[in-house]
Amino acid sequence: MRKPQISVIGVGYVGLCTAVGLASKGFKVIACDIDPEKIRKINQGVPPFFEPELQEKLAESIKAGNLQGIVNQTDKAVKETDITYVAVGTPSKPDGSIELQFIESAASNIGQALKHKDSYHMTVIKSTVVPGTTQNVVLPAFERESKKKVGKDFGLCMNPEFLRQGSAFQDTLNADRVVIGSFDKKSGDTLEALYKDFYSQRLPPIIRTTLSTAELIKYASNAMLATKISFINTIANICEKIPGADVKVVATAMGLDKRIGSLFLDAGLGYGGSCFPKDVKALIACSKAFGYDPELLDSVEHVNKKQPLKAVEFCKQHLGNLKGKKIALLGLAFKPDTDDMREARVIPIVNQLLKEGAKINAYDPVAIQVAKGLFGEKIEYASSANDCLRNADAAILVTEWPEFKKIAPADFKKLMRNPVLIDGRRIYDPETYGSELTFTAIGLGK
Ligand code: UDX
Repeated sequence: MRKPQISVIGVGYVGLCTAVGLASKGFKVIACDIDPEKIRKINQGVPPFFEPELQEKLAESIKAGNLQGIVNQTDKAVKETDITYVAVGTPSKPDGSIELQFIESAASNIGQALKHKDSYHMTVIKSTVVPGTTQNVVLPAFERESKKKVGKDFGLCMNPEFLRQGSAFQDTLNADRVVIGSFDKKSGDTLEALYKDFYSQRLPPIIRTTLSTAELIKYASNAMLATKISFINTIANICEKIPGADVKVVATAMGLDKRIGSLFLDAGLGYGGSCFPKDVKALIACSKAFGYDPELLDSVEHVNKKQPLKAVEFCKQHLGNLKGKKIALLGLAFKPDTDDMREARVIPIVNQLLKEGAKINAYDPVAIQVAKGLFGEKIEYASSANDCLRNADAAILVTEWPEFKKIAPADFKKLMRNPVLIDGRRIYDPETYGSELTFTAIGLGK
């Protein structure tokens, strides 16, 4: 049987990983984006962002002729393929609700292209959209522009993505589950057949459901993970009041209970990134718009907002007034293995330290360029971890990059003016580091 040809509209993390994942399995894929610079890079085999493994697989797919990038030609993307994925961004508006303008314009463009297409075409919404969006925004735009009927002339599915930055390509190839929300049975069957071919022997469980339930599954999953993080950070804050208590041991023991599970119980400076903060806010806003106040999620957000500022409080406990003090920040990215700084926990930390008059020297293995765009000359940038620590009055471990784990207590002592170490991600052994340095860590009772 002929493999369906695929187009992907919007090549951010989700779109590009979907495109390269399919191309790497022999599907012919067209990647379409409004940004000419992104497409130029993609056609040269270079991902527009840092993501392990993606570069190699993208280059292979381009070389094999399985992937082609085009600029702003939705018409061509739809005309020349059988299935179109929509993976455009859905950023937050100031009130926390999601901005649908990119979805709306993609839907009108696809609708116009469907008007000129004779054969059955399937569209799959992969962007994270609040429940009701595919049914009430995308579908009407398709029917209005195409003058055709969903379920008869074309298909429509909602298929959320659960990939994590830093392991996005592997997550695309090895999903825990595939969620297919479909307008009608034929649409769902078409997408299910694609995934059976794509995953072959490694087919994960497939959940078939309605469009809105699929949309909600994505938000509920991310909100649950964010809740786990704010929960363990709450326990960490309690631990700090109890002499001898350690949140790491609490989390390990809790995680052995199968009903709780061990993952996403790492206490630290809170969650950042392009998904959790935005998705929790969007779920709150959408729930309120439906007439239900989700108080639990408000608390999850509140805990997360306060958590990074604890690093500054710890600094003040050790150094007193921070005016003129030199603070070393180890890590800038919102998590290791990415240069992404969206909602990175370091942002409120930098802002607060600057307010207190501190001088900041920061280092990250890959995110310095991105950080320069955010902070400009307000802070200094080091070329290595050692360079960052040199003559510092205190160091804050912000992102748990593997190379930071190798910095020994003797290195901190040798390089810093004052060996005060604040472990914001619990990567250092409190006994070893605590006996040699002035050491404070999240969730560690004194
Ligand atoms: C997340 C979801 O995991 C993914 O399924 C979804 O598709 C997109 O959002 P991502 O944002 O890439 O992925 O990062 P993730 O690894 O989930 O971490 C998010 C944030 O939570 C990071 O800032 C991380 O440092 C923090 N975190 C994670 C913790 O503080 N503690 C933990 O135990 C786990």
